[in-house]
Amino acid sequence: MSQEHRTRVAIIGAGPAGLLLSHRLAEAGIASIVLDRRSRDEIEQTIRAGILEHGTVDILREIGGSRVESVGQRHDGVELRFEGVGHRIDLRGLTGRSVWLYPQHEVLRDLVGARLAAGQDLRFGATVERIDGVESDEPRIVATDAEGQRFEVAAEFVVGADGSRGITRATVAGSSREGYFREYPFAWFGILCEAPPSAEELIYSSSDDGFALVSRRSDTVQRMYFQCDPDVDPGSLSEAQIWDELQRRVPGTDLVEGPIFQRDVLRFRSFVAGRLLRGRAALVGDAAHTVPPTGAKGLNLAVADVLVLERALRALLLERDERPMLAYPQVASERIWKAQHFSWWMTSMLHVAPDATAFDRRRQIGELSSLVDSEAGRMFLAEGYTGW
Ligand code: PHB
Repeated sequence: MSQEHRTRVAIIGAGPAGLLLSHRLAEAGIASIVLDRRSRDEIEQTIRAGILEHGTVDILREIGGSRVESVGQRHDGVELRFEGVGHRIDLRGLTGRSVWLYPQHEVLRDLVGARLAAGQDLRFGATVERIDGVESDEPRIVATDAEGQRFEVAAEFVVGADGSRGITRATVAGSSREGYFREYPFAWFGILCEAPPSAEELIYSSSDDGFALVSRRSDTVQRMYFQCDPDVDPGSLSEAQIWDELQRRVPGTDLVEGPIFQRDVLRFRSFVAGRLLRGRAALVGDAAHTVPPTGAKGLNLAVADVLVLERALRALLLERDERPMLAYPQVASERIWKAQHFSWWMTSMLHVAPDATAFDRRRQIGELSSLVDSEAGRMFLAEGYTGW
């Protein structure tokens, strides 16, 4: 016999979307159980993007113990660099809003800490095998815990916050590939290095040799990326080769070099699941969509989904009003497609495709020049970057 647990909302995935949702539901008096197949350490050490939109910071600030203000850094602008010249986009001057550099693993540490302190039922190392009855009023999850013991969770609603490779995307959308999809012929080679910052603000640099992003993590650790072939083996380049690739892609700036202690290759995909809701199960965050990392929309979009779904769950479970839930896919989709466009646009404007012609490159420079020379253009970028 497997053990059975009962809750109101079963949340699969203890990433930012799942944890934030459990937090907000608890504040509304709605109990949940959060399951994740990964260990707590694995979750807290996942290296992801670091830029939070203005609205995301407002939401995270409300969480007790959040260090977004004390550890995060406010950025009032970003630099777009092409033809060896940097152009500052004054985010704050244009929109009155800033973004914050606060890496996702720090967000996760805050959220896990706050949820555990509040007594949230949070199960790491729990692998979901099946989700049954999503078209009924009592969906049920069959899972095994870290010791291989089977258990079941009976709930009134199931939320898939288990990322692009999770089980819920297939349950809700029909298959994990069912939806709108685009692949890109390049990837990012990412590094973490021990060095002081090379610049005060992030640099998005488009060069004839490809794109590079100079980001940061702290006063002593920096995060940088350069455009690479998606099939490159991260271990195949020497540190000298990596620095050479980076320096060439940010002409006109001397990047401060230092020992590289982490490297990874990030593949680029755009995806939106064909369905976000099926009966009593819904998708949020990366389970619902994937964006390429240019513009750092992934985590921010997950937070936006959660806010919409949380309102729908409150209406459904506290007031027996189904309408906001039925509207969830449409309401969430509006922002999802804005973010899809923004991420695709930043990506295509700044990267050099392997088959790009001289015409394509000159056109790109034309696009970048039109953007930085126009207040409307800079404003469009600033609005999207800081969040609609
Ligand atoms: C990062 O610091 O990891 C980062 C920053 C901005 C992006 C993407 C990634 O657009």
